[in-house]
Amino acid sequence: MRVMVLGNGGREHALAWRMAHDGAQVVVAPGSDGIGREHECAAVDLRDHAAVVTLARARGIELCVIGPEQPLVDGLADALRAAAIPCFGPGAAAARLEGSKVDAKQFMARHGIPTARCVVVRELGELSAALASFELPPVVKADGLAAGKGVVVAQSFDEAEQAARACLSGAAFGAAGAQIVLEQRLVGEEVSLFAVTDGHEAVVLAPAQDHKRIGDGDTGPNTGGMGAYVPAPVFDADVRATALSRIVEPTLAGLRQEGRAFVGVLFVGLMIDAQSQPWVIEYNCRFGDPEVQALVWGASEPLLPHLAAAATGALRPGVVATRPAATVVLAAAGYPGTPRAGDAIEGLQAAAAVPETKLFHAGTRHDGHGFRTAGGRVLGVCARGDTLPQALARAYEAAGCVHFDGMQLRRDVGARALARS
Ligand code: AMP
Ligand code: GLY
Repeated sequence: MRVMVLGNGGREHALAWRMAHDGAQVVVAPGSDGIGREHECAAVDLRDHAAVVTLARARGIELCVIGPEQPLVDGLADALRAAAIPCFGPGAAAARLEGSKVDAKQFMARHGIPTARCVVVRELGELSAALASFELPPVVKADGLAAGKGVVVAQSFDEAEQAARACLSGAAFGAAGAQIVLEQRLVGEEVSLFAVTDGHEAVVLAPAQDHKRIGDGDTGPNTGGMGAYVPAPVFDADVRATALSRIVEPTLAGLRQEGRAFVGVLFVGLMIDAQSQPWVIEYNCRFGDPEVQALVWGASEPLLPHLAAAATGALRPGVVATRPAATVVLAAAGYPGTPRAGDAIEGLQAAAAVPETKLFHAGTRHDGHGFRTAGGRVLGVCARGDTLPQALARAYEAAGCVHFDGMQLRRDVGARALARS
């Protein structure tokens, strides 16, 4: 099967690797220097939907897999399907669940899906009354896409108010912050749940846990994700059953009812509370990164047939088993603020030689001599094993082989799982 993976980051490198591993002929568009070492890349601007359709036709593509959220929210999947090209990724109407947090919260309220209480604020004048309706400082969320930076988990009412003002004034995120959601803070353990779906049936991937803060022990600012592992032990069979019946199934049914059936991967960010009840923190309309890197590397069966079946409406429900796997992200100096580019990366070959290990390129470029940093998250170092400790030891051994100036990494990936065992 000829598959085109759309995007240029670590997620797309991981997806391309898996599709090829599962037997596909893969082209990545636009891809990157690092991805281009292993897969054919084709230049294209994902904002130009007609150009993507033309490229897919020219290559005889039988399945498009769209990686990032922005093209999905912009309707790229609709354009491909209108051209009769099978596409793994939701149309714009379904992708709004990620594109607008207000839409997501209102959707959950309409369909009785468990989530934190919230108040939508559209004008500064409404802010004080809205804040006063919370007993504890609320979480402040910009409505629109903000590259993973639109959420402030405030420690005080003052901090919440400042974050809310920065959004509403347009200073923080421009139009994406023109309205905000104030949300009750949930307490518990987070899990990233991925349901591959054709809009009706779902194939559930192994539960993953992400490490969102830059610093060890979950300190410092939020990032796109500094590491991940699968499977997350907090998500046991009981939690899974509840999450499916109370969250995944009603979400898919609600979207069908509203005439915006979801085709692709529904990524539900869950908080599992002390009573083992799952609550929705957020919906995303694509694979999480770095979670997907650990997922594709660990999966003990092919993923391509599920993605292809989802795109053509022929999915059979099921679960995908995984070996324990982990990703340690190597980030550039300055991340999650403005990252420094151009630092020379050394040790890639030594890292790749560690058994059961794989490096995915997220933000690198090749200058003709070697790879250099070219983004916030630079590399994802993945490893799998018979046990999570073994997978983690391999990932850290490989990460230890890589060097670039200012390199940042978390040393405690998987700590929550290790503490349970
Ligand atoms: P989001 O972009 O909605 O995933 O939010 C980013 C991160 O903020 C989440 O992964 C959580 O760690 C945190 N967060 C968001 N909403 C809440 C909430 N209601 N309670 C606690 N933490 C939250
Ligand atoms: N790692 C979380 C995300 O991709 O949104």
